[in-house]
Amino acid sequence: MKILTIIGARPQIIKAAALSRAVSKRDDICEVILHTGQHYDTNMSDVFFRELGIPEPDINLHVGSGNHGEQTGKMIMEIEKVLLSRDIDGVVLYGDTNSTLAGAVAAGKLHVPVYHIEAGLRSFNMAMPEELNRIVCDQLSTILFAPTETAMNNLRNEGFMTEKRHFADGSVQQVIKSGDVMYDNSLYFADMAAEKSDVLRRFGLEDKRFILATIHRPANTDNAENLSNIFRALADIAEREQSKAEGLKVVLPLHPRTRKMLPQQLPAELLKRIENCGSFIVTEPAGFFDIIELERHARIVMTDSGGVQKESFFFETPCVILRPETEWVEIVAAGAGIIADADYERILSAYDKLCGKVVHFPQLFGDGHAAEHIVGEIVRHGSQMDR
Ligand code: UD1
Ligand code: UDP
Repeated sequence: MKILTIIGARPQIIKAAALSRAVSKRDDICEVILHTGQHYDTNMSDVFFRELGIPEPDINLHVGSGNHGEQTGKMIMEIEKVLLSRDIDGVVLYGDTNSTLAGAVAAGKLHVPVYHIEAGLRSFNMAMPEELNRIVCDQLSTILFAPTETAMNNLRNEGFMTEKRHFADGSVQQVIKSGDVMYDNSLYFADMAAEKSDVLRRFGLEDKRFILATIHRPANTDNAENLSNIFRALADIAEREQSKAEGLKVVLPLHPRTRKMLPQQLPAELLKRIENCGSFIVTEPAGFFDIIELERHARIVMTDSGGVQKESFFFETPCVILRPETEWVEIVAAGAGIIADADYERILSAYDKLCGKVVHFPQLFGDGHAAEHIVGEIVRHGSQMDR
């Protein structure tokens, strides 16, 4: 069986590492890797292939940045050509980016089976481009691999059946609870990261004496009030803790979108304060080994990222969620994360609450072998198609 793995954005490259490992252990399946080129900076793309041992992409569309329609449209055109010219038995898609949407539309129209990893996630916020992408992708999917029980419930509520459905044209649709491939990766790479990353030494960081913050959602980066609230809260917490003997740093590996928007969105006095206060370490996007070391050793993670929320949970670091809602509601239900949005008071209060209590991190994201289960199901589906 030959699958086409479509990736494009940073988190998809990382997730693909788990599946590539599982595919490489079998001789009944092989993958062709297509990179749309949605992310292209070395530290948003190449670094992950190198660190995580992912095979080089067979195809790179070099689509680059652009408005949603332009970016997605170019991808659909090029993915269609690949599907028409190569003998592909199924397409593997991750998450909810424009690369996911493009793959789903191109494959769906050509009746190529779509295997969607991270199906069923919902924020119920249609202002997020990702919410539209994931709803469309789920509708076009042949097998929906839901990572959590919440994702299963979301799909049930939208009328997806957990039993296999057979359609008149011979195609099928199936929803499978698979566990989370990001959990697989966190287990697999944790020791390697501890050994290979020198990020703590490089930045002079001590265990539990820094906040890790990542911000890249347009709702924050493209909104001056939200972005200022977040940075004011971070600066105030850092200054408050600075007066205590042990001090506290704030580490900010900046997504390129955020780096571009910061000077435009933050008032000059706040920018100056951050530059001068001595607590902020503003840096390039981190490699995977560095970021998971930072997640593991941070006192608190503050993020609007889906992946960083989950990884902090895997590494048992509490998390302040800089969004009005989350798809990973079980983290909040477990008490390991607090939704604070981009609200100054709520961010401070969430930080204080999470620092002041014992937090539990139950195992909610599978058994660490999600990718192997997924590949097994894809091969099973492929062999049924042959008959
Ligand atoms: C995309 C995904 C988002 C995901 C995020 C992961 C969509 C709609 N959004 O958001 O779901 O959480 O990736 O990081 O697919 N840029 C660079 N270099 C790069 C990549 C981007 O400079 O290598 C800059 C460009 O100015 C670009 C901007 O970042 O316009 C945004 O990139 P884009 O891929 O459109 O969206 P993300 O915010 O990265
Ligand atoms: N990540 C990284 N370096 C960073 C920030 C994040 O390697 O500086 C990784 C992180 O460990 C996680 C993934 O990128 O595996 C999350 O991607 P991102 O935050 O870009 O997007 P989201 O998960 O919100 O879609």
